[in-house]
Amino acid sequence: MIKKAVLPVAGLGTRFLPASKAIPKEMLPIIDKPLVQYAVEEAVNVGINEIVFITSPEKFSIKNHFKKNKEIETKLIKSGKNDLAMAINPEIFSKVSFYYVNQKKQNGLGDAILHAESIIGNSPFAILLPDDLFISKKSCLQQLIDAYALNKSSAIAVNVIDKNNIHKYGVIKPKERTSEIIKIEDIIEKPNAIDAPSDLAVCGRYILNSSIFKHLKSVKPDISDEIQLTDAIKSMLSEEEVYGVLYDR
Ligand code: UTP
Repeated sequence: MIKKAVLPVAGLGTRFLPASKAIPKEMLPIIDKPLVQYAVEEAVNVGINEIVFITSPEKFSIKNHFKKNKEIETKLIKSGKNDLAMAINPEIFSKVSFYYVNQKKQNGLGDAILHAESIIGNSPFAILLPDDLFISKKSCLQQLIDAYALNKSSAIAVNVIDKNNIHKYGVIKPKERTSEIIKIEDIIEKPNAIDAPSDLAVCGRYILNSSIFKHLKSVKPDISDEIQLTDAIKSMLSEEEVYGVLYDR
């Protein structure tokens, strides 16, 4: 059973500027909830009860958002607004432990994940990138958990992406593509469209074995001096199987 999830939120969010100048992009509202809450709910709804945020001091509002606020809750209940009291301290979060680890320097997604090692330990775990929002009948994370249960191997969500945008993603080279669960032969971070090994790009949900930490420690930083999670998965492929799961909306 997958019980732990890592949500990296320490990135600078430059693509969302100026909206993300003072407000973390993860806190931008979608209808009535901040973006990050959708990812936390997706994790909790598959049975995850330990959530590790890799964060930075500027993103203090994320911690405040998931902290129980007794004072407002009491006021709301006194004035008969029980539904709002439930909304600010949702019942589903009451059994979840939230951890916050600061990433001092934005050295990339891979470096962010490495910061979770001591809390994750030896079990397989989930990664959710909260700025990728997935809404489907069966959640993207549940689809990965089902694939993990089937193959007992790491599983990463992939989506079909058009040629004009493929260079923005990690792209898998399938070994066998017979169903929506695809054995991966190779994975390449942000290839040129012409070099892309397929049209299947990694999206922001993963179930990984804890062996990923060993690979994160051995991969070299890229030209921007960032440790890429994709490079560590590539290194992992030399020792164990990893599957792509074509996300079914
Ligand atoms: P992105 O590259 O999408 O996020 O990283 P970013 O760095 O915030 O965005 P831009 O490129 O400046 O617009 C994917 C995820 O990894 C986290 C981000 O917060 C995001 O959830 N991340 C990225 C970290 O936690 N630390 C990093 O050093 C880099």
